[in-house]
Amino acid sequence: MLGPDGTPALDPQHAALRVLARADQLATLSSMHQGIERVFLSPEHAAAHALAGDWMEQAGMTTWRDEVGNQCGRRAVDVPDAPALLIGSHLDSVPDAGRYDGILGVLIAIEVAERLAEVELPFAVEVVAFGDEEGTRFGTTLLGSRALAGTWQPEWTELHDQDGITLGEAAQDFGLDPERIALAARAPGSLIGYLEVHIEQGPKLEQQNRPLGVVTGIAAAERRLIRFIGESRHAATPWELRQDALLAAAEAIVAIERIAREQRSNATVGHIRVEPDAVNVVAGMAEISLDLRDVNEKERDEVWSAIRSELQSICLGRGIDFEVESVHRANAAVCDPGLKSAITAGIRSATGEERPMELLSVAGHDAMAVAAATGIAMMFVRCAGGISHSPDESVTAEDVAVAIDAMHAAVLELAMRVAAGDPDAAA
Ligand code: HGY
Ligand code: MN
Ligand code: MN
Repeated sequence: MLGPDGTPALDPQHAALRVLARADQLATLSSMHQGIERVFLSPEHAAAHALAGDWMEQAGMTTWRDEVGNQCGRRAVDVPDAPALLIGSHLDSVPDAGRYDGILGVLIAIEVAERLAEVELPFAVEVVAFGDEEGTRFGTTLLGSRALAGTWQPEWTELHDQDGITLGEAAQDFGLDPERIALAARAPGSLIGYLEVHIEQGPKLEQQNRPLGVVTGIAAAERRLIRFIGESRHAATPWELRQDALLAAAEAIVAIERIAREQRSNATVGHIRVEPDAVNVVAGMAEISLDLRDVNEKERDEVWSAIRSELQSICLGRGIDFEVESVHRANAAVCDPGLKSAITAGIRSATGEERPMELLSVAGHDAMAVAAATGIAMMFVRCAGGISHSPDESVTAEDVAVAIDAMHAAVLELAMRVAAGDPDAAA
């Protein structure tokens, strides 16, 4: 197998080691001294995407940065304006992140594109590194993939980060024109589908001793900020005169866990902020985040209404008000059957498994945004202990090697079906 420059393409084990070495290199591009944090429209975002662009070029692709700051690469075919199969993931991170969440999918996509360099395909192959899947900086997530999918909202340029910098200002500093971000949208019909490889971010593959899994769909999600408004009072204030916002928030957090567990749903309170935040003052304001996910919008919203009525009774009993701000909302996404079966075929070919394991993704992914523009499918890679959003995130070279083989085989399977005129091959 030759690479685009005629040198022998890397064998699977070497390709996997190159992926791990590149992940280590990207991990150094962080705004934290100790640990990884790379947020949207930051100098670290620019550096990571420039590096990914170099690797895309070495893999034989022409590259560009789109209007929202995604890094793109295209391996063209002889057919002018041929639609593309898009393979990618994201390079941004949560604070104190692991080094494979998102990154692994981009690096494996580049390896697969390189392997396909000399293969005659009925579609172009494009790789994309999205700039903001996590929403760490501006709260709203999937900004890069939503712009690419054509669902950008103009008001998002008014979102601001914790320093009060608006997304529009940050985009300008990054060298983008905020008024042109919506032009990142791909033309209808320019994509035949989107494939994403991602670490599982859960323990199921490891428990079943499987290196890879086929994703059936992605859970519906909603992120909210809930603010409890009481009265700031001296710590000497007698109990009966207190309207303690922090106690209301504390009671609410435990109630959220109880309700979500009872309804077998998924709820996380990961952020709390208190005002005036002084050791000798009863809190007048307490703000918590609520990240809610479930198999579909109906179940997700039913859990929310149960939580909301519990918040009402907690606050009534404490003479507290509360207000809710919805920060992010994503419908559940179902994987395209044709693309999903190509992923299944790819895993079968790479692992020899007759029935690859299928999983619902409770974690959110760019694929749920890209689903607005084309069919999607995902492949999960086992990660140690299911750990993610932590520096302890890890994968093995063996699993990465088999994931590259599986994604390569999935694309060849898809190409064969498209070339044969199979109407169900892709979206
Ligand atoms: O929150 C998530 O599920 C993803 O990591 N952004
Ligand atoms: Mn993540
Ligand atoms: Mn991710």
